[in-house]
Amino acid sequence: MARLTVLFALCVLPALVSAGNPFLVRGRVYCDTCRAGFETEATPGIPGARVRIECKDRDTQQLKYSIDGVTDSTGTYYIKVSGDHGDNLCDAMLVSSPQSDCSEADPGRNRSRVILTRYNGLVSDARFANAMGFFKSEPISGCTKLLQKYQETDDS
Ligand SMILES: *[C@@H]1O[C@H](CO)[C@@H](O)[C@H](O)[C@H]1NC(C)=O
Repeated sequence: MARLTVLFALCVLPALVSAGNPFLVRGRVYCDTCRAGFETEATPGIPGARVRIECKDRDTQQLKYSIDGVTDSTGTYYIKVSGDHGDNLCDAMLVSSPQSDCSEADPGRNRSRVILTRYNGLVSDARFANAMGFFKSEPISGCTKLLQKYQETDDS
C-alpha cells in the first residue's frame, strides 16, 4: 500500500498538476515584403494579426478545440491553450492581417504544426510555432538585390 502511495505521489500527482497548466504557444507573423516565401531581413512583424489554433481528431478530422489570438507590437503572439491534445493534431494558422497591402497569406507559410501534449517528454509549458507570413501586394524596392544575396548564400 505504501508502495502504491509512493507510486501515486511520484507519477500520477505530477501528471495531474501539470495537466492543469495551460500551454503557451508562441510564434511570429511577418510581412514578406519581397514575396520571397521565407523570412529575410525584409520581413517585419505584423502587429494586430489574427491567428487561430485548431486541434482536430487524428482520425475523423473533427474539430476538437479552437482558440484565437492577436500579435503584439512586435508581431509575436502568445496563445494559452488549456488541456492536453495528444489525441489531436493541432495547427496554428493565419486568420487575417490588419495591413491591407500585406494581407495575402503565403500558402507555403500559412500554418504551423504545434505539439500540444505532455506525453511526448516535453514537460515545459512553452511551445514554439514556426513563423507564418503574409505577402506584400507589391514587392518593395531593393528586393532583387536582397534576394540575390540569399541565393548566393544558398549556393555556397
Ligand atoms: C493555406 O494554404 C493552402 C494552400 O493554398 C490552403 O489550402 C489552406 O486553406 C490555407 N490555410 C489557411 C489557414 O489559410
